[in-house]
Parts: sequence; structure tokens; C-alpha cells
Amino acid sequence: MAKVASIDVILTIWCLLMSTLNVYARKEGTDFCRRFYLGTQEVVNFRVFVQDLGVNAVNTTTYDVAQASISATSPTGFGKVRVIDDLVTAGPDSNSEALGRLQGLLTRADLTTLAIAVNLNFYFSAGPYAGSTLSILGRNQFALAERELVVAGGTGVFRFARGYAIQKTNATGTNRSVLDYDIYTTTYTATTINQI
Ligand SMILES: *[C@@H]1O[C@H](CO)[C@@H](O)[C@H](O)[C@H]1NC(C)=O
Ligand SMILES: *[C@@H]1O[C@H](CO)[C@@H](O)[C@H](O)[C@H]1NC(C)=O
Ligand SMILES: *[C@@H]1O[C@H](CO)[C@@H](O)[C@H](O)[C@H]1NC(C)=O
Repeated sequence: MAKVASIDVILTIWCLLMSTLNVYARKEGTDFCRRFYLGTQEVVNFRVFVQDLGVNAVNTTTYDVAQASISATSPTGFGKVRVIDDLVTAGPDSNSEALGRLQGLLTRADLTTLAIAVNLNFYFSAGPYAGSTLSILGRNQFALAERELVVAGGTGVFRFARGYAIQKTNATGTNRSVLDYDIYTTTYTATTINQI
């Protein structure tokens, strides 16, 4: 108990010292640590569709990059890496309003179950989020009807964002599939960070 109490005291003294130094640093104009106000946090929900072409499709937007020594004999294609630059649309039809691209890597990363590790960026060039990006990570067990992915962050209106995305397959055709992303993410009412 005595040890815990003394750690408490040391931490309190450290914090007091640091905040004193901080005030001093501000006066000196060499900010040690600046604090900002982000505005009110909101959670927004929006749905976009991704036109995912197979590697054999005419004018494909997906290419296989590499594979591992085990990939050819692995039941799950372990180690295969694919890069994509897929069209993002407002509706499931590929001719619906173009909103941007979904760009990044898909890696077969499960030795026993069909699943990929995704590392993807939504790059919006039209619509309400034009100019912003939203980064998606996670494990996609694509045989499931619904796959939950992580919204890890973003740029522009999505600075400091976090949340999740539910991915579903909306349609499949010859060498192509349409993916439905239902995204829930935080945003902040202040678009620029304001120093307190
Ligand atoms: C689909 O892929 C096959 C090869 O697997 C190719 O011969 C065919 O042209 C492709 N069709 C379309 C519509 O992309
Ligand atoms: C493929 O791209 C070429 C050049 O942009 C275009 O003329 C052609 O219509 C496209 N074909 C398909 C099936 O998208
Ligand atoms: C595809 O998306 C459209 C538009 O939201 C919806 O009406 C349709 O039911 C979806 N189809 C599937 C198979 O999810």
C-alpha cells in the first residue's frame, strides 16, 4: 500500500511540474504541449457501393501483387496479396453517381479459414465528403453474409474519425461483384482544430 501511495505522490508532483513547465513554455513561445478543441462529436452513417472487378475482368481495377511459397497449396490461398483501385458509387449500379475510389491492399492472412486482412482507403472526390479520405482496416471473412471492419481514421472531414463498417455483397456477376459498405463513423463539428 505504502508503495502505491508513494507512486501516486510522485505522479502528482510530476504532473504539477509538467503543467508548470507547460505554462512557462507557452509564455516563452515554445509550446511543450498544446491543447485543442474539436467541436462536438457526432456519429454519421452513410452507405456507399464498391464496384469490385475480378483480376480477369476487361479494364480491371484489381491486380494480384505477390504470393508466398505456401499460397498455391494452401486451402485458403494464404499469403496472396492483391491491390485494388475500385470505383465507389452512390448506388449499387455501376452507372450511379461516382463518389471516388477504394484503394489499398487485400492479403489472404488466415491459414485455416477464408479471410483477408484489409488495408483500404476510401478516397472521396465527389459528394459531401469530396477531398476527404477514410481508412478501413480489419479482418474480412468474406464467406459471411456480413463482415464488420474497423474505421481506423481519416483526413479532411474525417480527421480523428473512428467507427466501424458493415460490408455485404450486393451483387455478383461475371468477373465482378458489388460490395455494400454501411459506415458508422465519428466526425466533429469543427472542421479545423482550435487551440484552447
Ligand atoms: C471474365 O474472365 C475471363 C477469364 O477468366 C475472361 O476470359 C473474360 O473475358 C472475362 N469477362 C469479362 C466480361 O470481364
Ligand atoms: C475498356 O477501356 C477502354 C478504354 O478506356 C474502353 O474503350 C472500353 O469501352 C472499356 N471496356 C469495358 C468493357 O469497360
Ligand atoms: C442492393 O442494394 C439495393 C439498394 O440499397 C437494395 O435495394 C438491394 O436489396 C440490395 N441487394 C442485396 C442483395 O443486398
